[in-house]
Amino acid sequence: MNRAARWMALCCLLALAGALLCGCAGGRPAPAQDGAESLVVVGFSQVGAESDWRNANTLSMQQALSPENGYRLILDDAQQKQERQITAIRNFINQGVDYIVLAPTTEKGWDTVLGEAKAAGIPVIIVDRMIEVADTSLFTCWIGSDFRREGDTAVAWMEEHLQGPLRIVHLQGNIGSSAQIGRTEGLDAGLAAHPEWELVFRGSGDFTQAKGQELMEALLARDTGFDLIYSENDNMAYGAIDALRAAGLAPGRDVTILSFDASGHALRLILSGEINFDVECNPLHGPRVQAVIEQLRRGETPPKFTYVEETAFDAEGLSEAVIDGRGY
Ligand code: AHR
Repeated sequence: MNRAARWMALCCLLALAGALLCGCAGGRPAPAQDGAESLVVVGFSQVGAESDWRNANTLSMQQALSPENGYRLILDDAQQKQERQITAIRNFINQGVDYIVLAPTTEKGWDTVLGEAKAAGIPVIIVDRMIEVADTSLFTCWIGSDFRREGDTAVAWMEEHLQGPLRIVHLQGNIGSSAQIGRTEGLDAGLAAHPEWELVFRGSGDFTQAKGQELMEALLARDTGFDLIYSENDNMAYGAIDALRAAGLAPGRDVTILSFDASGHALRLILSGEINFDVECNPLHGPRVQAVIEQLRRGETPPKFTYVEETAFDAEGLSEAVIDGRGY
């Protein structure tokens, strides 16, 4: 081989090696070491940690919007305060998140901050409770429970199982939240239809066990003349049950207990006879939100409003196996 031919052969070898190296690198930018730049960033403003339901809801969101599934979830716990949620949403906007998920404390007061999210071009997905805004284009879609229907379900059970006069204690949730509004409307409709039913006490326990117990202790100190407790969530019912036990009353027998959420512990209290009826409120919204984000990323339009399917439980047909088979 002469000098020119050797030179040509060397050039060909170098070109081949270069092409092979390029092929290995794939011509794409190397991912950052933690892969973070490719994750979809979601800011989630959560109501708080007031109940077992809420904790199950947070866990469901964390599991669905995980790095393994391609997400970075920024969770903010508002401790049941709307002003903290407004601050959290503004922080998400400043951080330039891809999506905002809001589980609202109350229905009203979101117009301004959601207007800011819209101006920033960030889609907002509402979960659990509803919001009331003048312009529904301020949020992309809503997924949650039909709280009025839950209240009606509880009242239908009362009508079917309890005859004659009924003195009712009503423990309300966080005033102004859809869960409180719908469940209270259901009971009010029952009271209007049944003159033999009497509301002897109504007060808000903010959906917490401690406040439910506090309200019942204060009531029991002055009056034990009631037959039924309509508790707008399981944690307040747990507090009420503790207060009844301490006062020497048998929950579920001396006093009928109706509750909402149907979390695992409450269903076990149905088995032991201390809760009589529990209307399900399903907290497993994580996969639902994930599906909506995936639809949006594909350029599709998810339904504006999605009500989740829910059921209700009394002792009939309930077993440990049924409880174990549920996700919360
Ligand atoms: O909005 C859902 C309600 O909020 C649940 O019933 C309650 O437990 C929670 O705190």
